[in-house]
Amino acid sequence: MDPPCPLSARFEGSFAYVTVKDRLPQILTKVIDTVHRNKHKFLEEYGEDGIEAEKRVIAFFSKLRNEIQTDKPILPLADDQPDVQIWNDYLHYQKSLMDDGGEPSWFKSPWLYVECYLYRRIHEGIVLSPPISEFDVFREVKNDSFFQSQGAVIALCTYLQERKKNIANLSENECREEFSKLLQVSLWGNKCDLSISGGQDNSQKSSILNSLEAFKPNILVDNTESLWEILSRNKGQSNGEASTRVDVVLDNAGFELVTDFVLADVLLSLKLATEIHFHVKSIPWYVSDTTKHDFDWTIKQLLGANNRWMSKCGAQWKENVQKGRWVYHEHLFWTLPHEFFRMAQTAPDLYSELQKSSLVLFKGDLNYRKLTADRKWDHTVPFSEALTTFHPAPLCSVRTLKADVQVGLTPGLGAKLAESEPDWMVSGKYGVIQFSAPV
Ligand code: F6P
Ligand code: MG
Repeated sequence: MDPPCPLSARFEGSFAYVTVKDRLPQILTKVIDTVHRNKHKFLEEYGEDGIEAEKRVIAFFSKLRNEIQTDKPILPLADDQPDVQIWNDYLHYQKSLMDDGGEPSWFKSPWLYVECYLYRRIHEGIVLSPPISEFDVFREVKNDSFFQSQGAVIALCTYLQERKKNIANLSENECREEFSKLLQVSLWGNKCDLSISGGQDNSQKSSILNSLEAFKPNILVDNTESLWEILSRNKGQSNGEASTRVDVVLDNAGFELVTDFVLADVLLSLKLATEIHFHVKSIPWYVSDTTKHDFDWTIKQLLGANNRWMSKCGAQWKENVQKGRWVYHEHLFWTLPHEFFRMAQTAPDLYSELQKSSLVLFKGDLNYRKLTADRKWDHTVPFSEALTTFHPAPLCSVRTLKADVQVGLTPGLGAKLAESEPDWMVSGKYGVIQFSAPV
């Protein structure tokens, strides 16, 4: 069966429409404001050149905002980054898909493409403006969101360190429960992204651990058992010499990243894995996505915190990185607009890397959209079918619903939810732990 058509802002009233029409310009307004507020910092660091760069960047972003609002054609990228050719080839490909022979534009092209393109254009505006070309326009909001979640971070770190005291004596069932619990924490951590709130505070204020039971009915697909089957098989092997690898394709920095670190810690502590490979973004992305800088910064913050459990976590996680038990990878593919079924062809090196994994966890909504190619799938289509040809290893999406796509539901569930809660697919209230293994 051919996949259905991509979601786009053409579907008036859809979330894609709302995002392109309202949210993307809003994000640019916030970015302009951030650059402007940092004017004095640029002046201090670079003198008049810094001020000139600030003006250039603001003019670039204002023009970009206008291009979106007036549905202008998508322009080729003009910087010197290593992914430019791929982006420009993709634009060419999008043009070939236009049924009226017109130009790809913000409202007519696929939502996934134009939304990714916005973040890449933001990057272009910055890299074309030396001497401020290293400036991360989202760093302040990412850092703020970490600090605003302090209470929840402390609760989680305390829980982890207390639990680790007797982790070696847990029964099989207790291990399974612990894993399932921290997987759910990592799932609900995904509520806290900043692109959906247009960069507004969306941090976790209370301990998520107390809410897990109440949230359970909101997990629409829960394949934790399939993950446990794979990981507990690994457990047998991890006791010996063999290494077993779990990959986590990270999403947001801030509280969500801490939940991912906690899950990764427990995977090692319970001997369900011997190595965790994290995949981070190589450029600032979707406001809150984790870059290598955010990864290191978060561990450093924890390490230097006043709270002893936070600093203990920071120390252990730093050691995990130093000893190679935690490895991070950057790849430009994660910040392309490409659906994941294109990975094997576009980024064969990354595809082969993932093939080495026993289990790949894909965090968050954007990864889900890319896994399922962001199409108008019927809700009952099996997940493995929506992945089309993307089957590098056993994989699982751990995602709260924030976009117009959801597959693998039992018949009737989508319709029932739509009747009682029209925004069920985009509110972040519901989540999935959805698994697929290569056949
Ligand atoms: O505005 C919504 C949105 O930007 C979606 O396009 C995107 O899928 C989501 O937010 C990002 O969420 P996450 O951080 O979970 O990938
Ligand atoms: Mg994100």
